[in-house]
Amino acid sequence: MPTINKRELTEVLSSSQKKYKPSKKIISQANVKNYEAVLKEAARNPEKFWEEAAQDLEWFKPWDKVLDASKKPFFKWFTGAKCNLAYNALDRHIGTKTEKNKAIIWEDEAGRTRQYAYLELYQEVNKLVNALRGIGAKKGDRIAIYMPNIPEIAFAMLACAKIGAIHSVVYAGFSAAALADRIKDARAKILFTADGSFRRGKVINLKEIADSAVKSCKTIKKVIVAKNNNEKVKFNKSKDIWYKDFVKGQPTEAKCARMDSEDPAFVLYTSGTTSKPKGVVHAHGGYPVGVLRTIKWVFDLKGDEIFWCTADPGWITGHSYIIYGPLLAGVTTLMYEGVPDMPAPDRMWRIIEKYKVNVLYTAPTLIRAMMKYGAKWPAKHKMPSLRILGSVGEPINPSAWKWYYKYIGKNRCPIMDTWWQTETGMNMITPLPTAPLKPGSAVKPFPGIIADVVDKKGKRAPAGKGGYLIIRNPWPSMIRTIYKNPKRYIKTYWSKVKGAYFTGDVAFRDKDGYFWIQGRTDDVLKIAGHRIGTAEVESSFVSHKSVVEAGVIGVPDPIKGEVIKAFIILKQGINPSDNLKQELKMQVRKTIGPIAVIKDIDFVDKLPKTRSGKIMRRVLKAKELGLPLGDTSSLV
Ligand code: WTA
Repeated sequence: MPTINKRELTEVLSSSQKKYKPSKKIISQANVKNYEAVLKEAARNPEKFWEEAAQDLEWFKPWDKVLDASKKPFFKWFTGAKCNLAYNALDRHIGTKTEKNKAIIWEDEAGRTRQYAYLELYQEVNKLVNALRGIGAKKGDRIAIYMPNIPEIAFAMLACAKIGAIHSVVYAGFSAAALADRIKDARAKILFTADGSFRRGKVINLKEIADSAVKSCKTIKKVIVAKNNNEKVKFNKSKDIWYKDFVKGQPTEAKCARMDSEDPAFVLYTSGTTSKPKGVVHAHGGYPVGVLRTIKWVFDLKGDEIFWCTADPGWITGHSYIIYGPLLAGVTTLMYEGVPDMPAPDRMWRIIEKYKVNVLYTAPTLIRAMMKYGAKWPAKHKMPSLRILGSVGEPINPSAWKWYYKYIGKNRCPIMDTWWQTETGMNMITPLPTAPLKPGSAVKPFPGIIADVVDKKGKRAPAGKGGYLIIRNPWPSMIRTIYKNPKRYIKTYWSKVKGAYFTGDVAFRDKDGYFWIQGRTDDVLKIAGHRIGTAEVESSFVSHKSVVEAGVIGVPDPIKGEVIKAFIILKQGINPSDNLKQELKMQVRKTIGPIAVIKDIDFVDKLPKTRSGKIMRRVLKAKELGLPLGDTSSLV
């Protein structure tokens, strides 16, 4: 992974490293001016800090207790309170001056745009709430959403939250098999999809993929289809309905469900170390507290600003910082459906100029891709509106950081390198705009978060020494459990280092207490920022008739961060060939989706294994990269 090389490490550890200090203007505008004092104060009493943060939201009934740790690690926040996530993101703004602000600006690759003021968004969502209630949707139901980055995905998420149904958004780049697995695990009753989505000028027929998933999902009673591309789609009259017809004639007011603060708001599936994705559960009360506080402080939002997060709503970054975060803060969220280099490599910079974007939140892989096209592309555009930049998804290598700072931020906009996870719900280790920055470091834990770098026994690692990144205290927007699998929740996150949340990442701290995230310790890959488990890819290979066994590793890639390399044992009598390689690559694409691109396949006779038969991916990786093999005592 292009994180940090030896020369850079020496520089990091010497105290002479250049820090990028915020300008006077940034400091004078900042929502949080006294960064160090705020950190100290919050560390003294995190509960008090979060209780104060919760006052930024509206509650139907206040809490009896801020934090209930009696059944830890099943922590409860704001117990006894009544509230609703959608109410706070939307209803709360109606009747205030925010209702006239734009809530959503949408543009697609072909240049079509749609815009919604808060009041309009509120009415759209209410129509959908009424239509959903009309078909019997209610509190606690699970509703799957498999849609591109279009306004209807926001309508659907918000409508679910408003009626108290649990949404499960599945990224539209996942395959039919992956969608079906997730629908089955959650036993979803309703599915939202679209006819298609634009990608590099081509239309991807989402409805067809959704249909093939629904075939094996008996729980789905209704499929609501947004028209996005005028694609010809097959319709199953007993189940399918066009979105437009579904909401036609519905009233524009709707009652909001009163939820317990601990009621689940959504489940979002993410990859772990087994072939079965985990349904990460987030709650109505705590989740928005963490999301609103971070978006306001990290990105320094003021009110009527334009916030552009380039992720997809199908990932946690999209949930927290395309949909819920900007709406909780009452600002405008920009949704772009398409690739960043169509029709030319300046598409992103063109969008920033056109809409006067104030905050850009993107991923290192995208910055590296733009770097490759060159600085002449952003130079074509005036971007004085930009104030703050953000990075997320994987470690940002110092050279990409510097390029981003110079050519996009024009040496003026601080970069917020935000480390967090699907499970954490919100930014966890990140600077605030007033912090001095070091390229490649995510700086310090957000106020109220106590993070540490430790060895296997939980002992703090000295400065400069790598170790496990853990979080010592609970926080409001944390994962509540793994859907229908509380044991796995405990095992994955709370049993590796005693009393602490185990992130699965390795990091080190420098002499100034700055955190440097190094990547995963487990078998989770980050392919262009997308989270994929090696076990998922292996099980996909093994489902092919010619394959006996597969071992999969991530190898460094200059643009994507990591790409997938596979080692495959074929059944006896099957001959390796280029055609077979192609077929196997397609197999993974079919079972997981186009995001799981296989860079390379080696056919082998044996895989390195432990005595208990587990594939030692670490050994495969060391061999592939020509690194020392490390401890091989358990290798057979
Ligand atoms: C990685 C994405 C370094 C990390 C929000 C984490 C990062 C995983 C950063 C979670 C960052 C995310 N620097 N690494 N700024 N942000 N990661 O669940 O390995 O898709 O554990 O959430 O991404 O990925 P997820």
